[in-house]
Amino acid sequence: MALDKTFAQGAWSDDEPLECVSILPESPDVMTVCFQAPSGRPFAFEAGQFITLELPVPGGPLYRTYTISSSPSRPLSLTITIKAQADSIGTRWIMENLVPGVTLKATGPAGRFTSAAHPAKKHLFISAGSGITPMMSMTTEIYDAGRPCDIIFVNCARRPSDIIFRRRLEHMATRIEGLDLKWVVEESDKYQPWTGYQGRFNQLMLGLMAPDYLDREVFCCGPEPFMTAVREALAGLGYDMDHYHQESFQAPQMPAADLIRSPEPDDDLPEEDVMAEIAFDISGVTASCPETDTVLAAARGAGVAIPSGCTFGVCGTCKVKKTGGEVHMVHNGGITDDEIEEGYILACCSNPRGKVTLDI
Ligand SMILES: Cc1cc2nc3c(=O)[nH]c(=O)nc-3n(C[C@H](O)[C@H](O)[C@H](O)COP(=O)(O)OP(=O)(O)OC[C@H]3O[C@@H](n4cnc5c(N)ncnc54)[C@H](O)[C@@H]3O)c2cc1C
Ligand code: FES
Repeated sequence: MALDKTFAQGAWSDDEPLECVSILPESPDVMTVCFQAPSGRPFAFEAGQFITLELPVPGGPLYRTYTISSSPSRPLSLTITIKAQADSIGTRWIMENLVPGVTLKATGPAGRFTSAAHPAKKHLFISAGSGITPMMSMTTEIYDAGRPCDIIFVNCARRPSDIIFRRRLEHMATRIEGLDLKWVVEESDKYQPWTGYQGRFNQLMLGLMAPDYLDREVFCCGPEPFMTAVREALAGLGYDMDHYHQESFQAPQMPAADLIRSPEPDDDLPEEDVMAEIAFDISGVTASCPETDTVLAAARGAGVAIPSGCTFGVCGTCKVKKTGGEVHMVHNGGITDDEIEEGYILACCSNPRGKVTLDI
């Protein structure tokens, strides 16, 4: 289809399933899946955003959220880059079942961990493992703009062969001024000498890699202990944490200033010994539960299916309409202020107050 016709159709929206068009192995247990819209519509999103896929696993659909690893500057396709842990169910299903031609339902794009939301001239991208995906999208977008840039790109991996996108990034770094790559590995590959940084990311490495870190907008993504180490290193060096942004792929163990909308100090927190009642209007079911249960947990206990993904208020999969009553909701950006105004809540991070009715 000619490009002018492609763009004349308008951007892809999630009422159309995504078609897998190719699969590319990246490193051990990591692959990139490339999707297109069967209609040919282009993708409009911000670098750093994610989509949530509905995976038809046996026993019912699973919802999994993945950062878009491709760049909005290349809108004809959309890629995700996925890493499966040993006991993975959803991601492993993709790796073993998805082939070109298969379509999947998807929602999004969504997310606030974007360079567009936090514009800056100088960046410090720090990632570990599959946390490299949002940094790849942001870096490709900056690279495609063709101007010299100022990015210090740090990625930590177990071994050099586990570094995702290494060759693509090294190629980019040879074609643009100002992309400075720093790899950190825990151990070298057998019979492959490694002359770069080795060990766990720490304050000393930070100072050596980015002596001007105080002037840089920091984006961090990786396992929670890794992000904690990065936060502590920066905070310990007097970095202004208003310029620090992070994305969690798992429920955070402790609130991080930019990630969690903390309850207000005078917030009236839910109490375990106070009971609430939830009426699921469409299902015709009513459940009672302690105020400290989430709406999602209460629904599950009552046999009412609410689709869910991340379970910590990021992906927006569990959005339901509240038609009556009050909830206490502390989310992580998976719902907009307009949606809240219209009565929507995220079931995974809302606690019922008294009597609540839901449109489900
Ligand atoms: C905003 C956002 C963006 C994400 N982007 C990506 C991405 O670009 N690439 C990607 O591979 N994943 C990404 N994830 C994580 C992904 O959604 C899944 O949570 C993760 O892949 C685990 O799902 P699973 O089906 O493989 O494993 P599950 O069957 O859900 O869990 C299997 C085991 O893995 C553990 N586990 C769950 N989540 C993680 C995790 N994130 N890392 C390590 N272990 C985990 C569980 O504790 C469990 O023991 C993202 C998540 C969020 C919220
Ligand atoms: S399941 Fe992701 S926001 Fe609730």
